[in-house]
Order: sequence, then C-alpha cells, then structure tokens
Amino acid sequence: MSESSGPVQGTVHGVWRSRWVFILAATGSAVGLGNIWKFPYIAGENGGGAFVLVYLACILFVAIPIMMAEVMLGRLGRMSPVNAMKKVVKATGAPRLWGSIGWLGVAAGVLILSYYAVIGGWVLHYVVEMGSGRLQGASAGDVAASFSSLLENPQKLIFWQTLFMVLTMGVVIGGVTKGLGVAVKVMMPLLFVLLFVLLIFAAQHGDWAAGARFLFSFRSDSLTWSGVMEALGHSFFTLSLGMGAIMAYGAYMPEGAPIGRTVLTIAGLDTLVSLAAGMAIFPIVFASPGMAPNAGPSLMFQTLPVIFANMPGGLFFGTLFFVLVTIAAWSSSISLIEPAVAWLIETWRVSRATANLVIGTFAWVLGLGTVFSFNLWKDHTLAGNTFFEVMDFATASILLPLVGLLISAFVGWAMKREDAMAALGDNAVRVLKVWHWLLAYVATSAIALILVVGLYKKFF
Ligand code: TRP
Repeated sequence: MSESSGPVQGTVHGVWRSRWVFILAATGSAVGLGNIWKFPYIAGENGGGAFVLVYLACILFVAIPIMMAEVMLGRLGRMSPVNAMKKVVKATGAPRLWGSIGWLGVAAGVLILSYYAVIGGWVLHYVVEMGSGRLQGASAGDVAASFSSLLENPQKLIFWQTLFMVLTMGVVIGGVTKGLGVAVKVMMPLLFVLLFVLLIFAAQHGDWAAGARFLFSFRSDSLTWSGVMEALGHSFFTLSLGMGAIMAYGAYMPEGAPIGRTVLTIAGLDTLVSLAAGMAIFPIVFASPGMAPNAGPSLMFQTLPVIFANMPGGLFFGTLFFVLVTIAAWSSSISLIEPAVAWLIETWRVSRATANLVIGTFAWVLGLGTVFSFNLWKDHTLAGNTFFEVMDFATASILLPLVGLLISAFVGWAMKREDAMAALGDNAVRVLKVWHWLLAYVATSAIALILVVGLYKKFF
C-alpha cells in the first residue's frame, strides 16, 4: 500500500484518558470467560495443582514478556495491529513477511469472537434463568435438563448470541474514550466487588480446605503433554495475547507511560481473578455430594446452578454470579472486535458504526457454526471434534501461541535490542535486559517446544 492511498496516519481512534484507563481496559479484556468459565474447568480436567503450577510458570516467563512486547509494538505503530505491524516492520527494515503477525492476530480475534459470543449468550440466559427463581430447589437432573434444552434449541441459542453481539457492538460503536473507556470504568470495579462477595459466600458455605488443596497441591501424576499445551494456550487466552487485542489497546496508550509496571499490574489482577474464581467454585463443588471438579465446559453452567438452587441465599448469589460473568465476558468481547474494527476504519475509511456492523455480522454468521455444533451438527465432526471444539483448539491452542512465538521472535531477534528496550518507556535497565532475554530465548523456545511436542502427541 503506498503512503498516499494508505491508511489514515496517527491515532485516528483516540487515546485513553490516562494510564489507569488503559489498565482498566486491558484488565477488562483479560478478565473474562477465560478466567471464570474456562480456567476452573480445564484446571479441573487436568487434575488441579500441577496444571495450575505450569500455567503460572507460563504466565510469568512467557506471557508477561510477550504482553509487554505487544503493548510496545502497538504504541510504536499507533494503529490497528495490521497497520501498526506494517509500520514497525518497515521502520525496523525487517522482511515484510513479519507484517503477517497483524493479519493472523486480527483473524484469530474474529474467530474467537464468533464462539465467545455464543458462550456469552449462555451466560445471559443464566442471568434470567437464575434471577427468575425458576431453578430454585431444582435437582441436578432438573438443571441438566434445563441446560440441554438450551443447547438443543438453536433458536434460543441464536437469540442469546445475538443479544450478546449487540451488547458488544453497542460499546465499541461509542469509540475509545466514550465507549470503551467509560464502560470499563464502571464494569471493572463492580466486577471486583462482586467476586469478593462470592469468595466470602464460598468460604462460608463451601469446603474451603478441599478447594485449596485441589487447586494448589502439586501431583505430578496428573500432568500430561496435552495439559501442558492447554496451560500454555490458556496463558495467552487469559491475557488476551496473540491476536492484537492488547496491541490495539496499546496503540491508544499515552506516550511515555511505563509499559513494564503497567503490564505486571494487569497480569497480576488477571491471575488473581482466575484463582479467586477457582476458590469461589471448587469449595462449593467439594461441599456438594455428587459434584465432580472435572465436569468440563458445563462446570459453571450445570454444577454451579444446582448448588446455588439449593443453598441459603442461592437465588441472590447465583444471579449475582452470572451478572459478574456477563460483565467479565462483555468487557473482553469488546477487545476481540476492536482490532478488526480499527483496521476497517483505517483501510476503508468508513465510520465506526459501519465497521462494527460489518465485522459483527461476519462473526455472528461464523458463530452459527458453534451454535449448530451443539444440536443440528452435533454429529458432524472432524477427528471426533465438533465445529466448536475445532475452533477452540485452532485458536486457543495453536493460533495464539503461534502469533506469540512470532512476536517474541520479531522483538527478540529482528528488532534492535536497544530500540525495543527504549520503546518500553521504563528506565530500570537491568529489568529490561531480563525482559529481552526471556523474550528472545525462553519464550521462543518454550512455545516452539510445547507446540511441536503437543501437536505431535495429539496427532501421532
Ligand atoms: N482474555 C479473555 C478471557 O479470558 C478473552 C479474550 C479477549 C481474548 N480478548 C482476547 C483471548 C484476545 C485471546 C485474544 O476470557
């Protein structure tokens, strides 16, 4: 693309009002279904403690350095991930192929959004289901029946998926400062208060010690390669890495704000929420006869409602819980659509509303595949996996780590070390050196190793 016909230069999309709005927005993006729905169930499926430890190591040594790199690239490029990467690659003088990082990322975002909105829809459904009191006193069988009647009904699923997409687009149409900025300032504090209330509830009514033992005691026998692969993929998913969401948000970050400290705050908050969600869920699971921690994706939708339906205060706290998850999912989905929207605005020079409608509709149509994978297309599988499972694996387990690998290789090897370090806006030189070393050596080799061995074990 030539300069003159190229995208609009500068931050056409706006800038966060302060570093704190950026922290809230990025935390809002990071904290989502990944923390409250996915983390507990994959930790449960992989046996708890050992998985959690690997996951924490991935966050610390791989994901955090990459998150810093993503924010840095976004701020250097000051545009949507696609064009930001083009600009930075050009300035670096590296081969143009590196620019594909931006494309892969934006594509991954739209793919994730397509199924994220379907699950987000389930959450909305459960706000109403719990809040109406219809589930009060329900047995495990009743709740299971209600869950499968939702999954088996494409119309119902599409209704809730559509509502979730409309909520998402509603915020993004408002733009960076008035839409995203204002939304996260209201949503995030509320989320932390709600989670705290639920933790107290779990401590009072659940088996706190059993929950803690499950999440934090290391048993190496429960660890598998596919578990390691899932832990790595999840460290990307939960911090919103590998698709340009954080890069896009970084593009709106005020000049000069220190990236290292900012990212540590965000990653710390995200990890705290995941562990808190685990400690809100598992103690209750262990205190309830017949409930298993390895229930899979239905853990949050089937196990928890039964528990809430039969506990003192369950109507109130159960409803509160799903409101909390709605807020978390909502503030994440806006970051899934933003990179593609920003790119469309720059490239087609269309309004935010038009860009939203185009990308939103595309993701919605693709999401129908996920909707049908629970009913009409239940038996159409690829190597035993439904459409939804293929999408989840292809994005979370492959695409995100792959883009993460490319980002760490680009910043660690293709960019000049001094340039990369200077762009972080921090002055603790020793810390910056550690960062660069983690990125260039630890992150690249860990991701490459886990991807190769994980894929090999899965398919051979
Ligand atoms: N991090 C969010 C969660 O945990 C999901 C999410 C939002 C995401 N934006 C992303 C995942 C970008 C990967 C990439 O639910």
